Amino acid sequence: MWSSSYSGGMPVSGTAGSDEVSVAGHYDALDRFYREIWGEHVHHGLWSGGNESVAQATRALIDRVTGWAALEPGATVADAGCGYGGTSRVLATEHGCSVTGYTLSAAQAAWARERGGGPEYEVRSWLKNGREAGGTDAVIAIESLSHMVDKPRAFGEAARVLAPGGRLVLVDWLGCERPSVLQRRGLLGPIAREGRLPTLCTASEYEGYIRGAGLRLLHSEDLAPFSPQRTWGIVARRLGRRLATDGEARRYLLGSANPDRTFAFSLARIPLALRTGTMRLMLMAAERPS
Ligand SMILES: C[S@@+](CC[C@H](N)C(=O)[O-])C[C@H]1O[C@@H](n2cnc3c(N)ncnc32)[C@H](O)[C@@H]1O
Repeated sequence: MWSSSYSGGMPVSGTAGSDEVSVAGHYDALDRFYREIWGEHVHHGLWSGGNESVAQATRALIDRVTGWAALEPGATVADAGCGYGGTSRVLATEHGCSVTGYTLSAAQAAWARERGGGPEYEVRSWLKNGREAGGTDAVIAIESLSHMVDKPRAFGEAARVLAPGGRLVLVDWLGCERPSVLQRRGLLGPIAREGRLPTLCTASEYEGYIRGAGLRLLHSEDLAPFSPQRTWGIVARRLGRRLATDGEARRYLLGSANPDRTFAFSLARIPLALRTGTMRLMLMAAERPS
């Protein structure tokens, strides 16, 4: 039953809000959609040669993030916005790190805990993570900070918990620096609403938050050369197959009672926004000065 896995019940409101309750409601309500269509990694893939499988492309993004995190075995890592814990498990099992993942979604944390593999998971906002100051070697945030309303606090928490020399590595959805009215109204605004993001910041805004938090920017990279928009063709094809063959999924996901049904429009908007440079998938790495 599709509905049996909607542990949060129907989404909390009829409007596409981007506060923490709405974000939690979105991921809880679409738990099964995300697991079955996206899998354990709810993030873009990176294609270098073009012939990589989805698994290889997904893994390429994780490897790029972990490379910049410069992790030693035994490092203490916070995965801020961990989803189903796909990256947390790689960090724990392959890099020997001690990892805690934070998610707003009880459904995601329950699935991740059942999967095991070493990390701990907390259903808790990153903005109120309660971690000890200066005790964390790396903070990883893959496609999660864009959901957070209070960006200075999100970056400030990373700076607070990091040990001197510790690194923040993030990948996120950002808008271009000076969007036209058409880009704002036709792409960035709707993508933010449909994706439960308060707004799409620019790279210079993120770099400002990094510096404002007292971190030193090490690297800022637009991942466009790796064709991340290919991810959306794959998601659209998987979803199309599911909708064609599963009446229950069709009724739930496209039903008028489901405010998240507008995600269907994003499947077309996001790849267009990425291809045209209106939206940018960026990786940034920063360090807490020693
Ligand atoms: C697109 S998913 C990415 C998940 C994961 N990083 C991955 O790559 O598979 C966004 C995640 O951010 C989490 N998130 C959003 N706002 C959050 C907050 N304030 N505190 C903790 N997690 C948050 C959501 O619960 C969700 O797990």
